[in-house]
Amino acid sequence: MRARTPAAGGRGKGIKMQHMKTCRKKITLALLAASAFGCAFSAPREVPLKDALRGRFLVGAALNEAQVSGPDRRAAELAMREFNTVVAENCMKAASIHPEENRYNFGPADAFVEFGRKGRMKIIGHTLIWHSQLPEWFCVDSEGRNVSAQTLKKRMRDHIRTVMGRYRGAVKGWDVVNEAIEWDGSWRKSKFYEILGEEFLYLAFRYAREADPSAELYYNDYGMDGKAKRERVVEIIKNLKSRGLRIDAVGMQSHMGMGHPDIGEFEKSIEAFAAAGVKVMITEWDMSVLPFVASGAEISTNAAYREELNPYAESLPAEMSGKWNARMADFFRLFLKHSDKITRVTAWGVSDGDSWLNNWPVRGRTDYPLLFDRNLERKPFLNEVLGAKR
Ligand code: XIL
Repeated sequence: MRARTPAAGGRGKGIKMQHMKTCRKKITLALLAASAFGCAFSAPREVPLKDALRGRFLVGAALNEAQVSGPDRRAAELAMREFNTVVAENCMKAASIHPEENRYNFGPADAFVEFGRKGRMKIIGHTLIWHSQLPEWFCVDSEGRNVSAQTLKKRMRDHIRTVMGRYRGAVKGWDVVNEAIEWDGSWRKSKFYEILGEEFLYLAFRYAREADPSAELYYNDYGMDGKAKRERVVEIIKNLKSRGLRIDAVGMQSHMGMGHPDIGEFEKSIEAFAAAGVKVMITEWDMSVLPFVASGAEISTNAAYREELNPYAESLPAEMSGKWNARMADFFRLFLKHSDKITRVTAWGVSDGDSWLNNWPVRGRTDYPLLFDRNLERKPFLNEVLGAKR
């Protein structure tokens, strides 16, 4: 036994030495790999976005029904891992949740809320009063004539109470009114406006506060970088406040392209909304890399397909990807700079393949607008900016 000890000890030492060598080799390899990929050990790539952004703002995406209810498991897993807030891309809009005056369709919205709950995420309700994806019955009578002001008020109130009431305590905040203002700052001539004038917006906020006093209430719109729109929205915030109504935040949809919005104008709007006494949320972030057809996000806009409008059907060339990432990084840095005012950043879809921009304003294009690519890989600008932060 004793005689074997030295040998055993020697062998033990040898193994130890060998082990140390292997470890050193492994560490060197890891360091080499890390530097080859241009990242440190605390690589943000391995840190979920929600953790990397903790203390700055919530981060999330709009989810579709396939992600919430099963078929798209990979995106669902990604959402659970990366995000701490979600919004429904379609299933809470009036046309989906309230298709007929006396019929609600809560199934998909229930599933969405359940998904968010499971992931302990902040759930956002989108949207209560909007001129698009509005069921036909909402503003007209059985002959198709506009209903009276009184009837429309009652319908709005019933709708808001029923939908908000069902998710009371589960939904953190609601886009109460979506897209009420035009580019030039005038009120959109929607049916709500035709029948009730601008009062429709104030009524919607009143009904929303009654329906769930604990929910946050938001006004949400696109093209919010424009001066005229900015000024009108500031006026609306002030009007709501002077009437004693609740508004917690303004949602800047942020559907962007390579040439719009101007980042300086965008920043002015963040500052103006915050100065008016509300938080700012980036609610529908995406950036199209495709040839410009229409800015904004009026969903009824459409243009015919032409091949030259779809130049990256196979893949995105490195040069374009570089430009896109640089521009996204600029905006992301701006959001971080204003994280005392911005409380949430939500992308309009999980990965490029899901984006509505593949079909708007031209059907059948291939766009690359979101935070994750078609293989669900994180886009480089995120790690670049978050890495720089460390
Ligand atoms: C879009 C959805 O992404 C599409 O699936 C749907 O067909 C049309 O609406 N502004 C909004 C969102 O507030 O609700 C819109 O979502 C995009 C523009």
